[in-house]
Amino acid sequence: CGIVGYVGPQNSLDVVLDGLRRLEYRGYDSAGVAVVADGRLSTAKKAGKLANLEKELAEEGLPAATIGLGHTRWATHGGPTDRNAHPHVSADGTVAVVHNGIIENFAALRAEIEATGVEFTSETDTEVVAHLLAATYRGLPAGPGRLAEAMRVVSRRLEGAFTLVAGHAAEPDTLVASRRNSPLVVGVGDGEYFLGSDVAAFIGHTRRALELGQDQVVEIDRTRGVTVTDFAGAPVEPTAYDVDWDAEAAEKGGYDWFMLKEIAEQPQAVADTLLGRLGENGELVLDEVRLSDQELRDIDKVFVVACGTAYHAGLIAKYAIEHWTRIPVEVELASEFRYRDPVLDRSTLVVVISQSGETMDTLMALRHARDQKARVLAICNANGSTIPRESDAVLYTHAGPEVAVASTKGFLTQVVACYLVGLFLAQVRGVKYADEVASIVDDLRELPAAVSQVLAGMEPVRELARSLATEDTLLFLGRHVGYPVALEGALKLKELAYIHAEGFAAGELKHGSIALIGPGTPVVVVVPSPRSRGSVHGKVVSNIQEVRARGARTIVVAEEGDDDVLPYADHLIRVPRTPTLLAPVVTTVPLQVLACEIADTRGLDVDQPRNLAKSVTVE
Ligand code: G6P
Repeated sequence: CGIVGYVGPQNSLDVVLDGLRRLEYRGYDSAGVAVVADGRLSTAKKAGKLANLEKELAEEGLPAATIGLGHTRWATHGGPTDRNAHPHVSADGTVAVVHNGIIENFAALRAEIEATGVEFTSETDTEVVAHLLAATYRGLPAGPGRLAEAMRVVSRRLEGAFTLVAGHAAEPDTLVASRRNSPLVVGVGDGEYFLGSDVAAFIGHTRRALELGQDQVVEIDRTRGVTVTDFAGAPVEPTAYDVDWDAEAAEKGGYDWFMLKEIAEQPQAVADTLLGRLGENGELVLDEVRLSDQELRDIDKVFVVACGTAYHAGLIAKYAIEHWTRIPVEVELASEFRYRDPVLDRSTLVVVISQSGETMDTLMALRHARDQKARVLAICNANGSTIPRESDAVLYTHAGPEVAVASTKGFLTQVVACYLVGLFLAQVRGVKYADEVASIVDDLRELPAAVSQVLAGMEPVRELARSLATEDTLLFLGRHVGYPVALEGALKLKELAYIHAEGFAAGELKHGSIALIGPGTPVVVVVPSPRSRGSVHGKVVSNIQEVRARGARTIVVAEEGDDDVLPYADHLIRVPRTPTLLAPVVTTVPLQVLACEIADTRGLDVDQPRNLAKSVTVE
């Protein structure tokens, strides 16, 4: 979500709307603003793009005010409606709050607040904060810093990830904000102060910025300036810096392309997919999967249905779900699924995967599955989109908006969500792999750090990419879960760089396609862990030798410590040691970077490749 706050002499509504326009890329399913003028709080909010809100404001207007806050939303809890749009206001009308993130313990807090007779007006997790802030503020003595103290008290009670910005009707010169695991920056102008989820929010006004640390509260006040403390109230010196980006670069967080930004966001995106879903004792908590335990136990067959990149996530799901649950899994392209008349009934679970939630092929497959009485579970990123609405259950990936047409963080989080589904099914059905399931839950927690580690070592991959930019074909090989990774690596290259690329099961190559290999043909090989079952690692090492013997230039993706590949790798890309089934989360990342950099070197539009659309709403 995008967040803006302003305190200063300008008309706050203009400043806030200007910031929201620049932040709209962070979410665009609803927008809202609040201002304080003459001891009163006024708000306006509207579902849909920011333009809807601007239209309403042009007709209705808001009083001229010197503090204001605004929000452009990417829905997590509660669909994208007017009521669920931010800001949320306390029952007594004194506090307005906007929020980015997920408050994990909101259900318990909501029950507690409802018990005091407060009626909620939205389905969001955010509204609890508005009520808590208002009540806490009432209980504090008057004086400077009262709203900031209320924010500290409330923040200490919240679990999960949040950036919060709040204003109070009785505080015409002050805004406060709080952050945990979710971004917040402060802009410092001349007698005016800004808050933003990123610097794009205020880049048109000032380039002086302060970065807030974890678990900190900031107060911006027209006379007192900026005050930062930790949640306990101890003063903190924030880190100051100058923003040297122009407005366009600011939206991309300083990256040349949204795709690069989204690649870099993957550790956080994966963490957000896992957030609140891994219990302390290794059990999974998937409250949103509204299928009863009995329904889940009755399942005797799973279909995974998706298109494009999401289909590759589905291919990985098959390996994981079958292994953990012993339920047969078939993976199918959504555009083929219903025309084949698949065998479906009440005991079939159809998992549809779609980042956008709007892909027509996938939607039609889902409708067909429901017509045949199958249970449908959607894995989706866009809250409130059509596919989750029409499904029996949904697991959101919480990757945040993906702007680049080629999916990166969307894909990685789909893969992680598929693991969660597999492990959850195994848990509910009490299968014999119970111990393995518990230890895999611990391994999942390591994934964000593992992805960060891969990203930190990408410079050699970028260099390699530049040397590949004039090739006219690249082959990708993989085995076991590395096979879908190879397919995804090839797809990324085709869609971004317009270079012919093909992914193969490494063992299948010798049955025909190996004839493609000539002197210097670049071949990317995704090597499974040496700890994989059977001798699949050794077989892939042999496959590398086979292609190299025929002249291929080998680019080998292998885990740290795997020295068996050394003699056969013309280029070696290292990834951290990861359990076999989870490896795609790390091995895909260098292939994304490779494709992106090749396309960039070729001078192509990485974010909007020719002939493609982010969400294809025709069959
Ligand atoms: C389009 C995009 C692909 C994407 C596919 C599925 O074709 O260009 O990048 O993988 O749709 O999208 P979905 O939103 O359903 O995951």
